[in-house]
Amino acid sequence: MKRTWWKESVVYQIYPISFKDSNGDGIGDLRGIISKLDYLRDLGVDVVWICPIYKSPGHDNGYDISNYCEIKPQFGTMEDFDELLHGLHTRGMKLMMDLVLNHTSDEHPWFLESRQSRNNPKRDYYIWRKGKNGGPPNNWESYFSGSVWEYDARTDEYYLHLYSKHQPDLNWENPAVIGEMHNMIQWWLKKGVDGFRFDAIAHIVKAKGLPDADNPDHSPTVRAYGMFSNLDHVHTLLQNLHDEVLYFYDIMTVGETSGLGPEQALDYVGDGRRELNMTFQFEHMFLDAASPGSGKWDVVPWKLADLKRVMTGWQTILHKKGWNANYLCNHDQPRCVSRFGNDGPYRIPSAKMLATFIHTLEGTPYIYQGEELGMTNIAFDAIDDYRDVETLNFYKERVEAGVPEHEIMRAIHLKSRDNARTPMQWEAGGQAGFTTGTPWIAVNPNCKEINAAQAMQDRDSVYHYYKELIRLRKRHEVFVYGEYRLLLEDHPEIYAYTRTLDDTLLLVILNFFAGEPVFEWPDSVKIEGIELLISNYKPDEWEDLRQLRLRPYEARVYLQQGSRG
Ligand code: GLC
Ligand code: CA
Repeated sequence: MKRTWWKESVVYQIYPISFKDSNGDGIGDLRGIISKLDYLRDLGVDVVWICPIYKSPGHDNGYDISNYCEIKPQFGTMEDFDELLHGLHTRGMKLMMDLVLNHTSDEHPWFLESRQSRNNPKRDYYIWRKGKNGGPPNNWESYFSGSVWEYDARTDEYYLHLYSKHQPDLNWENPAVIGEMHNMIQWWLKKGVDGFRFDAIAHIVKAKGLPDADNPDHSPTVRAYGMFSNLDHVHTLLQNLHDEVLYFYDIMTVGETSGLGPEQALDYVGDGRRELNMTFQFEHMFLDAASPGSGKWDVVPWKLADLKRVMTGWQTILHKKGWNANYLCNHDQPRCVSRFGNDGPYRIPSAKMLATFIHTLEGTPYIYQGEELGMTNIAFDAIDDYRDVETLNFYKERVEAGVPEHEIMRAIHLKSRDNARTPMQWEAGGQAGFTTGTPWIAVNPNCKEINAAQAMQDRDSVYHYYKELIRLRKRHEVFVYGEYRLLLEDHPEIYAYTRTLDDTLLLVILNFFAGEPVFEWPDSVKIEGIELLISNYKPDEWEDLRQLRLRPYEARVYLQQGSRG
């Protein structure tokens, strides 16, 4: 397997608006990030991915870009950006930008022109169509509720937006758009950035003729996904981007690609495809969706058997052929300790167990800000405290549909993107040390117990556990390159696997629940000479490894060297 720095790296994701405010306006900014670079270096991460910081009206917190080559003034200036990049590089870290290529803001000058008239030179930068039978051109639904079409009276046509109406989709069938995008990416690469996360990249191509979606098994929201996700031509466009631009730089790329399994993912990340290094897959993010067709808001408990099946599929199918990006949370998902762990009495052990999982799989681990503290979901009582456009649109849509308030709020508490967007908890007091002013979204009151200052002092904190995992991953190649093999496929509580590289073996044992199941030591792993590398509990002196009774959310990683010798 080819060895490269981005396979060996750990990535830390920053959601800038919520990370650290430097000037008391309640909004996180670049100087705030700069002030925390030593924190990131001490944690040991290699790459920092920063969500969009470009000029933007902020309808979707920066994922609505109105100028790709300027910094949003609330975040700072281009000088601040240069200082940030330099600050990362001098500390041995790299910077990954988040680029939104599927759409712009409706305040982008291209769109302002495009909507002027049907024959404006920028008209075809976007996707405009005439209405049909007094309604929109087709029946596709937006990710953020309602039709993907917005009527514009000035030219009596509709424009397409897969996300909010403030995010019109670019027309990738137009060579001028492709040229603009390539130049802009080149511009950032010349500045010295080290990689990109390509937002919503699976959606840049839409089905020819934009036909109605017709799939009665699926809710209207999900029905049309196949019409604008992972279509063949996306690959041609990515290969062109690679060959003309990306190929000339030593960078890392990750694409956001929902709606595909590992075989299909190889089309993006397979060695020799000349597209992307890795993609964010979503299969495990839908394990708590009531049905494949129900979308994200109808939640049921997820099952360990499904998690094993999905992750094992990705681990084995991509092995030696492509590369995984491993994550359990990000700015669009609930906090992972609340979703896959236990944010009550077992918050600390379960956060550590999940960390062990992410760091011992084959692939590049991604840590989302605050995850290393075991930060949890938020449950605001009132919809007024929420800020996320997706959440607000969902609320409005369900209220109009007559759904009772408490049901809507229940779904929001479980799934709102704001769960991950409350301010980073630096300190116990004030506004969690995030700002000296009023934060743009309220801090989680549990900052009193969960905060970085406390975690750094406490040797047993989630933070120190992450730090140790990162250190171990750097020290033992088997964490990065070892081949994954699932053990105990049918065990309802324990997720266990080995990773093997030459004559070195890792044995990973994870108790995913609060019970105390017994782990039977597998015959395939010799007990003699085994070394416990890390665990979230102290091993009991009298324990019997052959019949190991696990404690709630216990995680153990054993190393066996010379296992074939
Ligand atoms: C991606 C981003 C999300 C954003 C959407 C539209 O899914 O991660 O935050 O709202 O794209 O750009
Ligand atoms: Ca600020």
